[in-house]
Amino acid sequence: MATVNADVTKTHDCKPTLTDQEVIDFCKNGYIMLKQIVPGQINRQTTAYLDEHPEGEPQGILNEEWFVDAVIENPGVSGVVRSLLGADFKLPVIMSNHRISCPRQWPCGWHRDVGAIDSPRLETLQVFYYPQDTPCELGPTQLIPGTHMLHAKRRFMSHYGAVRSAVSSEASAGSIFITHYGIWHRATTATGTGIRNLLKYNYWRTASPVRDWITETEPDFTQMDFSPFGGALDKHFAVQVARQFMWLCGYGEDFDFKGGQSWPMNAGAGCQSAEGLPPQLARMAGK
Ligand SMILES: [Fe+2]
Repeated sequence: MATVNADVTKTHDCKPTLTDQEVIDFCKNGYIMLKQIVPGQINRQTTAYLDEHPEGEPQGILNEEWFVDAVIENPGVSGVVRSLLGADFKLPVIMSNHRISCPRQWPCGWHRDVGAIDSPRLETLQVFYYPQDTPCELGPTQLIPGTHMLHAKRRFMSHYGAVRSAVSSEASAGSIFITHYGIWHRATTATGTGIRNLLKYNYWRTASPVRDWITETEPDFTQMDFSPFGGALDKHFAVQVARQFMWLCGYGEDFDFKGGQSWPMNAGAGCQSAEGLPPQLARMAGK
């Protein structure tokens, strides 16, 4: 079958839809799930297309106007991508389909995809689209919230098995989940029957990071809570979350964690101290 190349220079822009808190939540969790965001007709059309093009990389679908409009440039998805990657983000040029025939045993362990980097930078997003209902029986991907911050070798994760905090991406048709590329995830065993499609593709940043999502005019960075999941896990995680948030805001060069109780360890509701916060942000907060 002839390979059809997508336009590698194509970008997209739209209004951002995330707030400060939602951007911080993405930095904490490493993913956002948008349930049933693609219309049913498009899900059926996509499934029919994938039945006609069962290859692992159905590139041609990126040239289908109906697919680009409703999935790749879906307003709900684009608003999130615009918030996290900035203006004029670059559209996917490679389309992969994790198409499986169920039932399927799958011993694939926890892993990050090849190319994951450990950095506060956020240059790309990995996105998954389920064009059909995908309950546990059809082997949805599992991921572990917050593990995009976990720097470990795969062999040290293999014993994890079932992790209590793992989240299944089981979802109804038309659901899309947007992930940090470095999040730890795994395929799961499918006990049902039939074909399951799971499309996977990436968006890229073209703009320098700047805090231009939905913002308050005079933000108080000392009141922002970077603690993971109610503060139950390693507090140092808060520093990594704050570092990524600072980078996204365009203050990546200005934040240097001072240790101890300095910001962001002291951040959160009722905090009076701006110690450790970059000076220009302390001034913005009037502290
Ligand atoms: Fe993977």
